[in-house]
Amino acid sequence: MSAIILLGAQWGDEGKGKITDYLAEKADFVVRYQGGSNAGHTVEVASDKFMLHLIPSGILYPRTVSVVGNGVVIDIKELAGEIENLQSRGIDTSNLRISTRAHVVMPYHKAIDEIEDQCQGIGTTRRGIGPAYADKINRSGFRISDLIYDSNFKERFEKEVDRKNQLIHDLYGMRQFDSELMYADLMEQVDMIREYVVDTSVLVYQAIKENKKVLFEGAQGTLLDIDHGTYPYVTSSHPTAGGACTGSGIGPTSIDRVLGVAKAYTTRVGEGPFPTELCDETGDVLRERGREYGTTTGRKRRCGWLDTVILRYAARINGLTDLAITKLDVLDEFETIKICTGYMYNNMMLTEFPENLNVLRDCVPHYIEMPGWQSDTTGITSYAELPAEARAYIEKIEEITGVSQAIVAVGPKRSQTINSRNLF
Ligand code: GDP
Ligand code: IMO
Ligand code: MG
Repeated sequence: MSAIILLGAQWGDEGKGKITDYLAEKADFVVRYQGGSNAGHTVEVASDKFMLHLIPSGILYPRTVSVVGNGVVIDIKELAGEIENLQSRGIDTSNLRISTRAHVVMPYHKAIDEIEDQCQGIGTTRRGIGPAYADKINRSGFRISDLIYDSNFKERFEKEVDRKNQLIHDLYGMRQFDSELMYADLMEQVDMIREYVVDTSVLVYQAIKENKKVLFEGAQGTLLDIDHGTYPYVTSSHPTAGGACTGSGIGPTSIDRVLGVAKAYTTRVGEGPFPTELCDETGDVLRERGREYGTTTGRKRRCGWLDTVILRYAARINGLTDLAITKLDVLDEFETIKICTGYMYNNMMLTEFPENLNVLRDCVPHYIEMPGWQSDTTGITSYAELPAEARAYIEKIEEITGVSQAIVAVGPKRSQTINSRNLF
């Protein structure tokens, strides 16, 4: 087995960074395939804490090649800053590779994101993600290769900035962008990443052919997928399994396993319906125990009980073969723990995740209750040592979703990870 997709099974922040870092020890390649600096992946090693936004969470292992694939939208200034920051902390970045085909997030994308979010109320991270993907689909975006190899780039860029200025002036009466200044900045920034830029699709293809171990690291989560998420309260890319293929230029027949990362409860940051949300003391306990504050924006994450309607949906949409259940320790003190197994809607029990947001908003979660374990799991290193109630909780999730766990996390540190089954 050599190629695994790792992705978020909920609304993001499931602990993908931590699990990627854990698996990266054995991986030859870690590949990011979508999203941009909206992602915030935290990796804790001993007393060191790393927040990664664009760089794959495999970067902490010097022998692992870290690839930013074509499906990622790159804010070059952010990426260069992230590289510099890692280097200043003694991390070797020489094994980083960046796709020639990745699109660039421009300053005007961030400005448009900011102003549109004020009107739309999605609660975006305001990192320019939606507008950058919109330009990609509209065929008016710029790719990394344009900045490096296109002799006409300056001309094309000036034309596009003129067009953008017209558009944002007419729509929003907003300030104008100076293409000369922006061009100069871009050229300076691209120089800082130039050495890493290659055709990453060829690189990853060859790695798979040579039976190297390749891990595709998703950002965001299944319910933030532009097609399969809670549209329009979603991000503008495909965090789901299919996105790993288009976002890295690899065919689906190369993929061996799909690992869904799920928190032992549910969180969401930003607006949009969230059936099991707890706007009470229990929600506050989950937030405080789980330190549920956004890695990228610092916003409070909304918290609620585990929703297995969502997990079953994620299992189906992504073809999950394995689960990584994170933050089990956050539930350590509860006397009883609830699991949502269905939604009551108009006196009917829904077991499939509804597509319509008005329906979803009116869904009342149906819960089963499980006994808590009320003991500290943070030092446990094997599955068998977990309290019987904790194992019963995990086994209930496996039973409902039809997917077995391979990894359970009981703390933020690399060492606080229980490996039940080897994936690589
Ligand atoms: P990602 O975006 O999916 O990578 O997740 P984030 O890094 O945004 O958020 C997950 C947070 O939970 C981070 O602060 C992690 O350090 C932390 N974390 C990950 N796994 C565990 C765990 O098992 N227990 C606890 N207590 N914290 C965890
Ligand atoms: P990681 O990779 C959680 C959410 C935003 C907003 C919506 C659209 O750390 O799991 P965007 O800026 O993408 O246009 O915002 O998506 N969002 C995330 N929520 N974790 C993330 O990434 C997210 N990235 C975007 O809060 O609701
Ligand atoms: Mg995050």
